[in-house]
Amino acid sequence: MASLKDDVLAKLASVSGPDGVPLSASARLSEIVAGDGKVFFSITVDAAQVKAWESAREHAEAAVRALPGVQSVMIALTAERAGGAGAASPPRRPPPAAGATSPREALHASPGPAGPAGIPGVAAIIAVASGKGGVGKSTIAVNLALGLRDLGLKVGILDADIYGPSLPKLLAIREKPRTVGGTRLRPIVRHDMPVMSIGFLIEEETPMIWRGPMVMSALTQMLREVEWGSLDVMVVDMPPGTGDAQLTMAQQVPLKGAVIVSTPQDLALIDARRGIAMFRRVNVPVIGIVENMSMFICPHCGERSDIFGHGGARREAERLHVPFLGEVPLALDIREKSDLGTPVVANDPDGAHAKAFRAIAARVRDALAAESRPAPKIVIEA
Ligand SMILES: Nc1ncnc2c1ncn2[C@@H]1O[C@H](COP(=O)(O)OP(=O)(O)OP(=O)(O)O)[C@@H](O)[C@H]1O
Ligand SMILES: [Mg+2]
Repeated sequence: MASLKDDVLAKLASVSGPDGVPLSASARLSEIVAGDGKVFFSITVDAAQVKAWESAREHAEAAVRALPGVQSVMIALTAERAGGAGAASPPRRPPPAAGATSPREALHASPGPAGPAGIPGVAAIIAVASGKGGVGKSTIAVNLALGLRDLGLKVGILDADIYGPSLPKLLAIREKPRTVGGTRLRPIVRHDMPVMSIGFLIEEETPMIWRGPMVMSALTQMLREVEWGSLDVMVVDMPPGTGDAQLTMAQQVPLKGAVIVSTPQDLALIDARRGIAMFRRVNVPVIGIVENMSMFICPHCGERSDIFGHGGARREAERLHVPFLGEVPLALDIREKSDLGTPVVANDPDGAHAKAFRAIAARVRDALAAESRPAPKIVIEA
């Protein structure tokens, strides 16, 4: 008896891409994952031809959905990384007028390095990542996003942590996003920021085996089929680690930079180093390192103790020639407010922790603006 996968492949013989090649015979087709009534695969296309491929994607989806036993189909177009600077990218925002140099204007000024096609309307996408799990990445991602918002930027958050999406909890989101116009999703809005989480799209019980292929489809969907509106910065909470899943994500998301979170211990720092190496490998600039759980402030007496050896991340940043973005103490109210779904920057905006996060946010904003600013023209006088 033919498997569902064979049926899908046979069906795809009737759908051709703009290159005239039937999908079943196309080298662009990924592995087809099929089972349990669900079908997932991706088609790798040139970033400049995404529009042309969209109708082939829709036809393929309809054809596969018509197969008996198929309940859901997800087909993602994954854009190939462009070779040269700016190649194969959709039209970008116009260059800024002369003299337009505020950090916010600079953010929208120019594309990042060559990579996957950008998201229309989103000036900069940054990853918050760590080599090691549990170092406070999600906590930093949410509070950094709020800090950037407090600086007057329009910010969105995307939770791409396949292993344990935590934004629904950190932001007390219980509802699911609604679709608009049939296919696009409207993000949930919290603290004036649109939020999407992979947790909205993948059920908690989804077995790990499904997650790999689903993740890329879901990630593409969250980036490109969501009404993000116009954003200055999108903060992406990445899954921990530096394995294949993380590397693929770092390649597929059009990142302008990465913020690495580490605790001060040697073990975490070794993983932070791996994280930095991973982003460098895929040509994503490392914006800098944040030291989380930097020191412990006793909630009772206010006394400070450096239980994990404060300062390790700053020294590591210097050693690796990466900017140091700041430190966040290990503090009971950071954890308690996270657990309540009201991050500390929103809950206690005048407190010392909120100030620390805003200082980190300001460094991130300045780094992004500096990176986006067009290089000054050198005029050679005759
Ligand atoms: N500065 C801090 N002070 C106190 N608690 C913190 C701090 N940072 C994070 N935590 C707590 O540590 C735990 C792990 O944090 P978080 O979930 O942000 O880490 P993570 O790196 O995203 O983890 P994972 O790798 O599982 O995604 C949470 O309970 C969080 O509330
Ligand atoms: Mg997390």
